[in-house]
Amino acid sequence: MRPAILSDPEQMLALVEKQKREGKRVGLVPTMGALHDGHLSLVHRCTEETDFTIVTIFVNPTQFGPGEDLDKYPRDLQQDTDLLSQFDVHAVFAPDVDTMYPPGASTSVMPADVAKPLEGALRPGHFEGVATIVLKLFQLIPADVAYFGQKDYQQTRVIQQMIEDFHLPIDMVVCPIVRDEDGLALSSRNSYLSTVQRQQAAGLSRALFHIRDLAGSGNLEAASLLKAASQILADASIDQIDYVALVDKRSLEPVQRVDENTIAIGAVRIGATRLIDNVLLAQ
Ligand code: PAJ
Repeated sequence: MRPAILSDPEQMLALVEKQKREGKRVGLVPTMGALHDGHLSLVHRCTEETDFTIVTIFVNPTQFGPGEDLDKYPRDLQQDTDLLSQFDVHAVFAPDVDTMYPPGASTSVMPADVAKPLEGALRPGHFEGVATIVLKLFQLIPADVAYFGQKDYQQTRVIQQMIEDFHLPIDMVVCPIVRDEDGLALSSRNSYLSTVQRQQAAGLSRALFHIRDLAGSGNLEAASLLKAASQILADASIDQIDYVALVDKRSLEPVQRVDENTIAIGAVRIGATRLIDNVLLAQ
């Protein structure tokens, strides 16, 4: 079914309120478009678990830092809505920048402490931008439940903490990472990679899964696990490593010894393309 495409916030809010009056369970899938099977897994799950699915497509400028890929970020609303037509998506909300950030808008969300390490340390302001846009979307689309991907693990922690701290009346579902056959996590940014870079890129997930396998066979010392991972990255000729870390899955603080609450998380750059990934060690 072809979803209705809306860009007007009042119409969007009215549509959601109508569904809720009719007793429907409303689900929300926030995205920046350039949809791939990772996004579509969230959409599919939302259509299975709710009565009314809304997908938002908005490339949020405030979560991009200076020199990041805001201008070249892939945008193709037609292709995205074609992809969404395979599912029972009822509405797509695709506002323009002035709608979400009217001239003069200057209030933002200061994200939780979990926003500070890892991505937060390398991308100043990123999670402030994410938290601010997600709160705005939750206001315009007061859904019962919102779907996010584990792919952006720290983002899920930041949003979950915002939901708790602000008593937001919405549930959050975190969906597993969808990967290509060689393990590379699907990402809109993978389209920037050349053929050779695409092969290198699989080294990141290989390194994280290697950590998980070693931990599974009883090697629990973080330092030795991280050393083994850096060897795999080196073998894949990945030499721009922003971080590979073993952290507590709730606090995101580094651990010395891993346990079932540890997550292996990493970010690397391949050429100009930045890739992130993570693997829960309990799996
Ligand atoms: P975007 O990068 O478009 O991702 C939208 C959602 O899809 C996120 O929850 C992300 O974690 C999920 N996703 C992306 N790749 C995935 C994969 N390979 N497997 C499973 N899920 C995947 O994340 C954002 O947009 C933005 O920060 C947003 C939350 C929309 C705020 O602007």
